[in-house]
Amino acid sequence: MPTLKFAVLAGDYIGPEVMTEALRVLEAVARLDQLRLEYTAAEVGGAAIDRHGVALPDSTIKTCAAADAILFGSVGGPKWEKLPPNQQPERAALLPLRKHFTLFANIRPGLLYPELADASPLKSSRIPNGIDIVCIRELTGGLYFGQPKTTTTLPDGDIQAVDTMVYRKSEIERIVATAIIAARARRQKLCSVDKANVLETSVLWRRTVTDYCAKHAPDLALSHMYVDNAAMQLARDPNQFDVFVTENMFGDILSDEMAVICGSLGMLSSASLGAGRNSHALPFGLYEPAGGTAPDIAGKNLANPCAQILSAALMLRYSFGQERSAARIEAAVRRAVVAGTRTADIAFGGASVGTRQMTDAILAQLA
Ligand code: IPM
Ligand code: MG
Repeated sequence: MPTLKFAVLAGDYIGPEVMTEALRVLEAVARLDQLRLEYTAAEVGGAAIDRHGVALPDSTIKTCAAADAILFGSVGGPKWEKLPPNQQPERAALLPLRKHFTLFANIRPGLLYPELADASPLKSSRIPNGIDIVCIRELTGGLYFGQPKTTTTLPDGDIQAVDTMVYRKSEIERIVATAIIAARARRQKLCSVDKANVLETSVLWRRTVTDYCAKHAPDLALSHMYVDNAAMQLARDPNQFDVFVTENMFGDILSDEMAVICGSLGMLSSASLGAGRNSHALPFGLYEPAGGTAPDIAGKNLANPCAQILSAALMLRYSFGQERSAARIEAAVRRAVVAGTRTADIAFGGASVGTRQMTDAILAQLA
């Protein structure tokens, strides 16, 4: 029986609530598909600040390093907003985790079931079949991590802050390699998004993507788009994309836009894959929902657990190679939602259920 060893970092506010539900679903799937789950919880984010004084304690890194994947909830919230920016949960936990485990490939599916088309701010006539696209975001380079990163007072008394956008050819090549795999598994179409009319890093990006695809993926239809145009095209006709690949900051922004056109953040999962291999000879990865900690609805049994549950499915697929179990979860979520069981964020004012009941409906659809 395969053993699935993962760290559980639930985090703050709704993080632990939806994590509980994802674990219920994983336990049920493990029973059906004969998998052994071996997971260890560790503190992260505000919860870790409260207990250990830091957002990412060494003990948490150790727990993660001993596992084959990380199932992550979400971190941050008003309770810790007064801390200096570089000690806040998002910056002091999530970014160092990404860097420590070289989680360079962030895969964000932009999926809107046709039955939920009304949840999108786009006119349903523009998305008659819902939305089904994928954003591949480079996650350990660019402006987020480039040095220097400083704030200084200048001789004239003015204050100056600097962030640095850096990319190496090798970093671009490895994210393109991931995007190629994703595109081949779908519609053989890849769009690379950059700002090559202005930025040096983007000029290198475009040249590298072009050369790499010519050599390694001549079978794919490759296109390039400037990021400002991509933002517009996503709102105009999202399904013209299939897989798009882009640098860290552009991907941060475009993936939020993608999230909103897909209706609810409560439905969007993500995978951040590392460069190394785990004990299953698959990528180590961190799996997290896109929606954040939602402090306003925390503790009220209102949060949509679907994104966390779908993130667990991605973990089964990418870090454990359990495609059948992953697909089983995805199908169960879809059937539950289509059958009309919905948390408030996707109920359009109709009848809604709580976090726990949503999961019950998904569990009922599993077999
Ligand atoms: C995301 C988030 C993070 C990011 C924040 C919380 C640091 O917005 O995962 O998209 O900017 O990468
Ligand atoms: Mg973001």
